[in-house]
Amino acid sequence: MPRSVSASPTAAAIAPLQTVTVDLPAGGYPIHIGSGALSRLGPLLRERGWTEGRRVLVVSNPDVAGPYGAAVRASLESVGLLVHQLVLEAGEEQKTPRSIGLIHDAAFAARLERSSLMLALGGGVVGDMTGFAAATWLRGLAVVQVPTTLLAMVDAAIGGKTGVNHPGGKNLIGAFHQPDAVVVDPDTLATLPVREFRAGMAEVIKYGVIGDPALFENLEASEDPSSREGLGAERLQEVLQRCAAAKAEVVAADEREAGRRAVLNYGHTLGHVVETLSGYGRVLHGEAVAIGMVAAGALSVELGLWSPADQERQRRLIAACGLPVRWPGFEAEAALRCLRSDKKVRDGRVRFVLPSGLGSVVIRDDISDARVLQVLERLV
Ligand code: NAD
Ligand code: GLY
Repeated sequence: MPRSVSASPTAAAIAPLQTVTVDLPAGGYPIHIGSGALSRLGPLLRERGWTEGRRVLVVSNPDVAGPYGAAVRASLESVGLLVHQLVLEAGEEQKTPRSIGLIHDAAFAARLERSSLMLALGGGVVGDMTGFAAATWLRGLAVVQVPTTLLAMVDAAIGGKTGVNHPGGKNLIGAFHQPDAVVVDPDTLATLPVREFRAGMAEVIKYGVIGDPALFENLEASEDPSSREGLGAERLQEVLQRCAAAKAEVVAADEREAGRRAVLNYGHTLGHVVETLSGYGRVLHGEAVAIGMVAAGALSVELGLWSPADQERQRRLIAACGLPVRWPGFEAEAALRCLRSDKKVRDGRVRFVLPSGLGSVVIRDDISDARVLQVLERLV
């Protein structure tokens, strides 16, 4: 297993929770991963100094508060925390400044103090909004992330990117605000729609291609990586640990995305085109990333950076996860306009993260529009 994964001694007495640490100059934080973690939330937070009498605002949505809200409350109350709950509507369209206002109203009503805590219980939408509300309330409250989608478990909940959307684009309003802890309970994936699970698998495959060939091979060895049941509990636990360790390592090396963290955008540059031109909501983020990875791989083959055989392995694994692999044949000008509007464009140049081997990537910003279009046309 990756270097930073260790068994948590306290947790080990009850069940094998694993802990990955995100090492940062201003103090690191743990990512606890394991079945049953939700019911151990209170004791885990007490270990972090969240003791009796502190206030906690749990932010969630009905899809998650329904099945898991009561267990979370009970666990937090078992260690004497004073629990308040806010249930927002579900969906990406809720990820707006208005929802931040609602969270701030709830924080005010709950009389949160500097010593209080916000806790995000949900997918990436709840996590991003709660993180941003915490970053901006009383000039910065602590936040604990409790992700309940695969995508949030392996990506969104880790690394401190928080924010909401602006009519001009996704995640344009935001702040870096690292969580105080991340608690991942794979059991919560039991209620996640399978399409959402598969979207999360795209980010999992991403970690394999950018730096963890053993993870990639582990997924290839699975008879059915397209669902939680198909993957199996043991492999899922390993996948969650490996992804958390991969993200922790990149974030520790480059917390504010000055350079290295950009590798996490593998599949996202061309994925952004798919997401935008299909109309947000029609294609899930992970589905767009899946197509974006196939497209980036094809571009890389075209440039002679990686082998057609590895590209085929990537395509096969993505398809085995029930994810799309074909470029949706957008009009060329629209695709180029969209590429140039991406947040990741620097000095007007589109930066592509391209595989250069299974487990390694390079960043290139010198690829002509004509070459990109030529490759995309072949993928339609
Ligand atoms: P999401 O939060 O919208 O969740 C997907 C759907 O699943 C929602 O309807 C949600 O209510 C439901 N759901 C969540 N957990 C469930 C569960 N256990 N059981 C049943 N239903 C459940 O989507 P997501 O894919 O988790 O996150 C996407 C968001 O994350 C986007 O806004 C994206 O910008 C953001 N994101 C952030 C980062 C980051 O670094 N901060 C990284 C990647 C993505
Ligand atoms: N999801 C990309 C990042 O956290 O940098």
